[in-house]
Amino acid sequence: MTKYVIVGSGIIGLYTAYNLLLRGVSPREITIVAEHLPGDESINYTSPYAGGNFSCITDDDPKTLFYDKHTYTNLSRLQKELGGAPCGLDRYISTEYWDTKPSKEKIESLASYLQEYEIIDQMNLPMGVAYGIKFRSWNFNCPKFLLNFQKYLQEKGIRFIKRKLTHITQAYLTSSTKTVFNCTGIGAHKLGGVNDTNVYPTRGQVVVIKAPHIVENVMRWGEDYATYIIKRPYSKDQLILGGYMQKDNWTADTYKHETEDILKRTTELFPKILADNPYGNDLKDLEILRVVSGLRPSRYGGVRIEKSLVEHNKYLVHNYGASGYGYQAGLGMGYEAVRLALARDNNL
Ligand SMILES: Cc1cc2nc3c(=O)[nH]c(=O)nc-3n(C[C@H](O)[C@H](O)[C@H](O)COP(=O)(O)OP(=O)(O)OC[C@H]3O[C@@H](n4cnc5c(N)ncnc54)[C@H](O)[C@@H]3O)c2cc1C
Ligand SMILES: *[C@@H]1O[C@H](CO)[C@@H](O)[C@H](O)[C@H]1NC(C)=O
Ligand SMILES: *[C@@H]1O[C@H](CO)[C@@H](O)[C@H](O)[C@H]1NC(C)=O
Ligand SMILES: *[C@@H]1O[C@H](CO)[C@@H](O)[C@H](O)[C@H]1NC(C)=O
Ligand SMILES: *[C@@H]1O[C@H](CO)[C@@H](O)[C@H](O)[C@H]1NC(C)=O
Ligand SMILES: *[C@@H]1O[C@H](CO)[C@@H](O)[C@H](O)[C@H]1NC(C)=O
Ligand SMILES: *[C@@H]1O[C@H](CO)[C@@H](O)[C@H](O)[C@H]1NC(C)=O
Repeated sequence: MTKYVIVGSGIIGLYTAYNLLLRGVSPREITIVAEHLPGDESINYTSPYAGGNFSCITDDDPKTLFYDKHTYTNLSRLQKELGGAPCGLDRYISTEYWDTKPSKEKIESLASYLQEYEIIDQMNLPMGVAYGIKFRSWNFNCPKFLLNFQKYLQEKGIRFIKRKLTHITQAYLTSSTKTVFNCTGIGAHKLGGVNDTNVYPTRGQVVVIKAPHIVENVMRWGEDYATYIIKRPYSKDQLILGGYMQKDNWTADTYKHETEDILKRTTELFPKILADNPYGNDLKDLEILRVVSGLRPSRYGGVRIEKSLVEHNKYLVHNYGASGYGYQAGLGMGYEAVRLALARDNNL
């Protein structure tokens, strides 16, 4: 008997299902319906394309701080349940640089929970950098993690159905369906019902290279650029180099000039990529495995986590707009969405 339907099988939909289980909902009462499932690839399915690091560039409003902190501190339990690091979730040291110092709220929040946290000495910062920290991060191998997460949920008894919906009402699969979770990512923009025009893509392009000699992350956040190096766990030595944050750009194409710019910026920020490369010390010696672009599901006004009454005893809980942080904030987002869903109805 399906009581809860989750529309969307990206990281947000899966985290939401997991939170329902944590709250004691029976897996038999949960169905996930999605046009794309783990293993699929499409520009309309963002989750497999993420770099998959926990990083510190998210906003500093109280909700965002909570989603990040909750996810960071509760991921170890999920990792354990999925069988440990080989599920595609491991931990590496991360160095982050900002050209403009983050707010006091942000820094205090990070300092309260990041493990192996240290502030980098002013004199050891690269030119133009105002603030830098080092800590132990979470790194996802996104495609692998999605598949293992789905397998875990399936083995618990949650049903997955591959289907594209054209209207929200189709999600109320049976008369017993009480609550629908809207975890449609960028799909929320186009879906019939109340099209959310506040949803827009922030396009990124990444270059995946083979780099067995790099086992850490480094990133630098500027006013109008983002340069990052992310180790992908359990991937046969893949390293992800990025990137771009292009607002309102829907293209799935990848560009040679962007690839070249990414290689230039990342090797300048972290010269070790070339200096210690076992295959040679020139840019042309880097083995490029893949170049992909993805659309971060951004939203004016931030993520939308809201509950509404559709008709008598039928509810809709929105949980989308995770932009560039679905992996690192989504466990906390799912926690909040499920809290709303299970709250007594007069607590709308
Ligand atoms: C280049 C790049 C790098 C990134 N790096 C990171 C990172 O390091 N860390 C991080 O935390 N995040 C990162 N992100 C962001 C992260 O990928 C997203 O926040 C996350 O994937 C969003 O997940 P989602 O579940 O909301 O959406 P999606 O993964 O897009 O899932 C949407 C789901 O809804 C389904 N759906 C949509 N419309 C319909 C419909 N009409 N009918 C049926 N099903 C429908 C889809 O089929 C799919 O299953 C990155 C993104 C990009 C592009
Ligand atoms: C992505 O979604 C849009 C809007 O629904 C659609 O027009 C487009 O064809 C889709 N692209 C792919 C590759 O499925
Ligand atoms: C690293 O994380 C940030 C925030 O989560 C994200 O915006 C960025 O795209 C990520 N880097 C890569 C390579 O995915
Ligand atoms: C999970 O997150 C909550 C905050 O939302 C925190 O109180 C709790 O300690 C976390 N659990 C673990 C195991 O760290
Ligand atoms: C919602 O989006 C769909 C697909 O883009 C479009 O066909 C439809 O007209 C839109 N509906 C509204 C009310 O804007
Ligand atoms: C999700 O929310 C968007 C924006 O309000 C809406 O257009 C869409 O119909 C909803 N989809 C589902 C399946 O609930
Ligand atoms: C999208 O980005 C690409 C690559 O930077 C660029 O060539 C293209 O003009 C952009 N498209 C739009 C609509 O901005």
